[in-house]
Order: sequence, then C-alpha cells, then structure tokens
Amino acid sequence: MCGIFAYIGKKDDAAEIVLSGLKLLEYRGYDSWGVASKIQNLKLNVLDNNKSKIKFQIDKHIGKIGDAKLSAELKRSSNLAIGHTRWATHGGVVEKNAHPHLDCTRTIAVVHNGIVENYIDLKKMLLSKGHQFISETDTEVIPHLIEENLKTKGFASSVRDAFNQLKGMNAIVVAYSLSSEIVAAKNGSPLVVGKTKDEFMVASDTAGIIKYTNQVLFIKDNEMVILGKDVTLLTLPDGKKIKPQFNKITWKVEDATLGKYKHYMLKEIYEQSKVIRNIAQNYTQQIESVGKIIKKSKGTFFIGAGSAAYACLSGTYFFSKIAHLHVNMSSASEFNYLEDFLNSRSLIIALSQSGETIDIVEPLTRAKIKKSKIVAIVNVLGSTLYRMSDYKLLLGAGPEKAVASTKAYIAKLAVLYALSYAMVDEIEKANQDLLEVAKEAERILDAKYAKQIQRIAQQLAKAVHIYTIGRGASYPTALEAAMKIKEVSYVHTEGLAGGELKHGPLALISKGSPCIVFAPDDETYDAIISNATEIKSRGGVIIGVGPLNNDVFDYWLEVKNIGEASIIAQIIPIQLLAYHMAIIKKLDPDKPRNLAKSVTVK
Ligand code: F6R
Repeated sequence: MCGIFAYIGKKDDAAEIVLSGLKLLEYRGYDSWGVASKIQNLKLNVLDNNKSKIKFQIDKHIGKIGDAKLSAELKRSSNLAIGHTRWATHGGVVEKNAHPHLDCTRTIAVVHNGIVENYIDLKKMLLSKGHQFISETDTEVIPHLIEENLKTKGFASSVRDAFNQLKGMNAIVVAYSLSSEIVAAKNGSPLVVGKTKDEFMVASDTAGIIKYTNQVLFIKDNEMVILGKDVTLLTLPDGKKIKPQFNKITWKVEDATLGKYKHYMLKEIYEQSKVIRNIAQNYTQQIESVGKIIKKSKGTFFIGAGSAAYACLSGTYFFSKIAHLHVNMSSASEFNYLEDFLNSRSLIIALSQSGETIDIVEPLTRAKIKKSKIVAIVNVLGSTLYRMSDYKLLLGAGPEKAVASTKAYIAKLAVLYALSYAMVDEIEKANQDLLEVAKEAERILDAKYAKQIQRIAQQLAKAVHIYTIGRGASYPTALEAAMKIKEVSYVHTEGLAGGELKHGPLALISKGSPCIVFAPDDETYDAIISNATEIKSRGGVIIGVGPLNNDVFDYWLEVKNIGEASIIAQIIPIQLLAYHMAIIKKLDPDKPRNLAKSVTVK
C-alpha cells in the first residue's frame, strides 16, 4: 500500500528523479514520504572505503508529497537515491516513522512495503546485540539485520539473508552507501524494474517508470534483483541466478499524468467512453475464449474486493438474465472462508484493477493448490494476479490513479456484459450496446449535464446520511454509488436493495433524507418507484436516475435507455456527483483519508 521508487545510474540528480517518481506513485500511500540520497558520485561498481564521507542524507516529511521540494542537502549531486510514500501500518504518522529507515551506521537505507510479521522477535534479538532503534515501525529491523549480516558477508548476500529472515509478504529496496548497487527483493507487494541504456529505476508500479522507459522487469515473488552496472536476478531463498526477462509496456506518459484535469478522478471519469469503446471494438476474441473456459468448468465464481466485488455482483445479474446461467460471487476477502468445496474443475474469475489486492491473491493461492482454474480480468500487466492466473484478460483502461475506482470499474462491467452475451454466442449484440453506452457516457459528461450535477452536489454535500437504492442489476449500482460518495465526500451513504427498505432501513428516513433511486426502464421500474414514493412520503428527497422523469423525483438525472446495458451507464452521473461533493467540501478526491489505491496488506 506504499509507493517505492529508487534510482541508480549516470544522472547526478538521483534524489530529484526519486521525488518526481514518488509524486507519480503517491496514490499508493500519502500520509508521509521520504527520500535518502547517497551524496557522492561514486563510479559504478567501485567500493569506497572512506565511510565518513558517504552516509545517506535523508528528507522525511509528514503529509502528502504534492508540491514538495527537496532540501538543499538532498539537491546535491548524487547518482543513487531511494524513496517512499507511506500508508502507515506499524507506528503512527510521525516523521521518525517515515521511510527510508537506516541502520546504526547510517550507511544502509531501506524502503519497505508490507508487514514484517516477526518484527518483535527480530527487534528483541537486535536490541540484545546493541542495535539502536529510532522508529516504531516493523521496517526498521531490516537495515539493522543487514548491518549485522555485513559483519561477515557482502552487501547482496546480507540483504538476501536478512530478507529470508522476514515473515510476511514484503517488498524491499536497499541501498548501501559503500556500494554502487541497489538491491530489491520481494515475496508480496509489487516491484517493477525499469532500464535505459545506463540507468535503472525500481518502483511499486509502472506508472512511476513510463516517463523514463517502456522496458520493464516485473520482479516475481521470491526473487531478488541487484542493480548497478548490470542487472542480476536471483531466486530466493537460495540465490540461484536466473535470466531477467524485460517486457515492453504500452501505457503512455499522458495516461499517467493529469493533463488538463485538476484531479485524476475527474480525468478517469472522462476517459470512460474511450475505455468502453475499446472493449466494444477489440475484445471479442478474448472474451469468447473466457466464455469457452466457463462452459468447460463445473462451478464458476466471480471474486473481487470493494468496487470490484460490486462489478462481480452485476455480473451475476448479467449472467442470469442474458446467459440464463448461474454463477456465484463472493467478496474476495470472504472467499477465504467459502472455498472448501473448490476442486480441479472449479473456475474462479478474479476481477481487479491493480492485480495486487491481498484479499484476492490470498484465496487464489490456496485455490491453485486445489488445482482450480483462474481467469484474471485485471488492469495491470505483470501484476501478481496477472501472473498467477491461467488465462489473463487485460482491461485496457490505462493507469487508474485516483483511489476511487471509476474507469476500471466500468471496464469490468463492460467485459462481464459482453461475456454474458458470449455465453449465448451473441457478443456482437453486446458490442453494439457498449458503443451506445460509450455515446451515452459522452452525453452525461457534457458541460450542461455536469452543471446540473454540481447543483445537486451542493445539496448533498450538506447531508449527514444518504441512501441509494436499486433493484435487480441496479442493486449493485446502488452499492457502488454509495461507495463512491462515501469514500470521497465522507458523507455516510448506504446502498440498499429497494425491496429491503421495509425490512428495516426505512426507519432511518426522516424529513430531508436524500435518496438516490436507480430507475431504469426495466422490470424493476414500478417496484423501485413504489419504494421512492414510500421514502418521499416520510419526508425523503428523491434523486431519480433513469430514462423517465417521474413526479416522485425532486431531481432527475437522465440516463437514456440502452436495454440491459443501461446499468453500465447509470453509475456515471453518480461518480461525477461524488467528485463534486468532495470538491465542494474542499477534500482531495484523489486521496481520501485512511485509504490507499492498492491494498496489499490484510
Ligand atoms: C473503491 C475502490 C476499491 C477497490 C478495491 C479493489 O472505489 O477503488 O474498493 O475496488 O480495493 O481493488 P482492485 O480492483 O485493485 O483489486
């Protein structure tokens, strides 16, 4: 959940390069940040014994990296630096807990993503040997372990042995001021190496690297890489050399930068028509292949976390209605407790933007032991989920950097919609519908429509509780709408199946309670309008979303009728509403408090 960026090469402004890399990765963690730079231009692969001159200089700060600048010290010439943006797990959000962490001699600097589960035992052992700790983090044991190992071994072996002593799922990058190499190792969180002719970068994801190169090496779990003049890849724990395989990535720099937009969330909302059109035009073959895998399996499970879980739930409605086929769905974090029946004929279709979500990776690791088949519907090439699956379908949404998922969510819906049609050999119908959805997305994102949304956002930003309701395939939309509003505006919002209101939640409605009602022109229309009327007669304020205006609506957000595909378009006005509520409340919609983009710890 943290962002790591490291640089080693010929340029002499390593700390600046690391700072700008971290700014591109800030969405991964933003409660504090730090950069360590080796302030001396050592020639690559030459050891310098003048220890006193080559300790690390460090900048550490609390808060978002935003427009941060480096101190004069860090601006000095350097060709090696490592940095980190933190999402706190162990130890409060204070400067001393920010990474990088150092050993007693200040010659070893470590950035870390993950949790060292046995850090208390390791710390006790290191304290008994006289090591001094400054922070409350689990991470700080790592530089001290390496310091201890360096008494008898070289740098890379010391890192390897230290990493092998850690329990839990971790990724580390280590720099040693007496060496001209950096070492990275992982068995959990992502690490990607980028290379140009004479330099290397290591980052938590490709978004930080594409500015410099499209040649990347995805470090697999239980691998360690040594970067200096060349790249050396080793397996862990044994340290056997393997051949590094660099991949060419297709994401462009503009995809990972703001361009004309104020926030990534807005940019990503506006990119949705392009994302849907791409799926309508280019995915037939891949989606049909997944359809064939489903037909061969005995028992299909959609799993995902958060918004991805809601996309899975939408998928079950699409499959029931369009393919007349039963599929199961589970929140990925609950699948752990539901998977005892899995066997070699089971199929798990895992949906994820990042492909790193621990709640997905963990149950799938166990499912693989049972030889179940895995299909990944994932946005990030080379991610853990991508690598561990038997069949991979890339969403093609481009980098999604706002914490709140928008374009990746809609891409998942589009793929599942087309997949349900592929099951009955009618994918062309789905593709036509998706092109209509892309057109409707453009209409909804037009300036006039956006003004209307802003007016409603002014009202809703004052609310304390909001309710969202839908029936049938609009029920997952109600859940997703509530998620978007609550996570970026901090207004408590509850998503409900319309039919559940009378079973309890109606007790919460009082004068002025806002309720967003999804009312597409389908078999749910009459019943959901009855629910809206019940809310209205208890004083509720109704924001209707659908193709038909209705007297019960106080506000109406029109979403044209595109048959079953209307479900995909109807989330868009609410994404925009959530965004504007955050802006009105002067919140940063890209970085909601307490959250991080990629959830790699449990
Ligand atoms: C909500 C949101 C999260 C993610 C969830 C899964 O807006 O973004 O709920 O959907 O953390 O993330 P991925 O898709 O990366 O597995």
